[in-house]
Amino acid sequence: MNTLDIQHISKIYPNGTKALNDVSLTINNGMFGLLGANGAGKSSLMRTIATLQSPSSGTILFNGEDIHKNPDIVRKVLGYLPQEFGVYPKSSAVELLHHIGVMKGLLNKEKRSQQIENLLHQTNLWEHRKKYVHTYSGGMRQRFGIAQALLGDPQIIIVDEPTAGLDPEERHRFLNLLSKIGENIIVILSTHIVADIYNLCSNMGVLDCGQLVVHGSPAKLVETLEGKIWRKTISAGDLSHYRKEHKVISTRLIAGKTQIHVKAESSPGNDFEAVTPTLEDYYFSMVSNSELQTVGV
Ligand SMILES: Nc1ncnc2c1ncn2[C@@H]1O[C@H](COP(=O)(O)OP(=O)(O)O)[C@@H](O)[C@H]1O
Ligand SMILES: [Mg+2]
Repeated sequence: MNTLDIQHISKIYPNGTKALNDVSLTINNGMFGLLGANGAGKSSLMRTIATLQSPSSGTILFNGEDIHKNPDIVRKVLGYLPQEFGVYPKSSAVELLHHIGVMKGLLNKEKRSQQIENLLHQTNLWEHRKKYVHTYSGGMRQRFGIAQALLGDPQIIIVDEPTAGLDPEERHRFLNLLSKIGENIIVILSTHIVADIYNLCSNMGVLDCGQLVVHGSPAKLVETLEGKIWRKTISAGDLSHYRKEHKVISTRLIAGKTQIHVKAESSPGNDFEAVTPTLEDYYFSMVSNSELQTVGV
């Protein structure tokens, strides 16, 4: 069992931005979902775990050892897919994987070739292996990103918003691939899409303005809202009135009408209808400015 023990991590950038504020969290093997809006601090936390940047304060232990005192502890066992991969050189997938493999210390050519072949099959890129990566579609590029992250049998995989910009089919295929990576390593996935997390992650955390506002199993967290979420369709003009009277956690437009979800211990009356809470309800009830959340349909 691998354990990442994140203890009181804060990060203040040189320009004064406080991106992480006293984040403490333990992550074990399995899929961990890091959920948060743009600017919440997800990439900052991931880069800190990947030892690409140091925290301003706090420590991270991997299997008991301080990773910023000895970054090799993590770097040796890390597969990382950053949010922005930057520019790909003019190389085919197979060439690029060999190059990255060598950098990761896979010096035995035969073993490296075997692993690259397996990964290209696993990510459905085998038939495209000789094409230049910069000509790949978004989905193929992300699957290539996972292939390079998996080189060298990592114990920790960090994927930063891998589904952003993918169409629904590509997104589905990518998440399927992630789910097969296995229960035997730590996989940390960040996203601002709630639906990416629920079926995939055994544990999750919500970052909001640099703070970890909650963590736990998605199903258990949602359970805490049982019987507390109420729905009503209103006319758009009444929205500000409802916001004054109730804790409106989200609004959505359905066929031109505004539907609101309200959090309340008991029925708010007035034609409110009880709904089975979802992770989306949970997330919107946890993050700040939640009255501003609008759900896309
Ligand atoms: N290198 C940097 N220098 C200064 N501010 C940064 C830097 N990287 C991120 N930030 C700021 O830190 C906050 C958190 O950013 P980030 O970690 O990228 O969040 P997320 O990945 O959740 O969108 C934001 O306010 C962002 O503008
Ligand atoms: Mg980010």
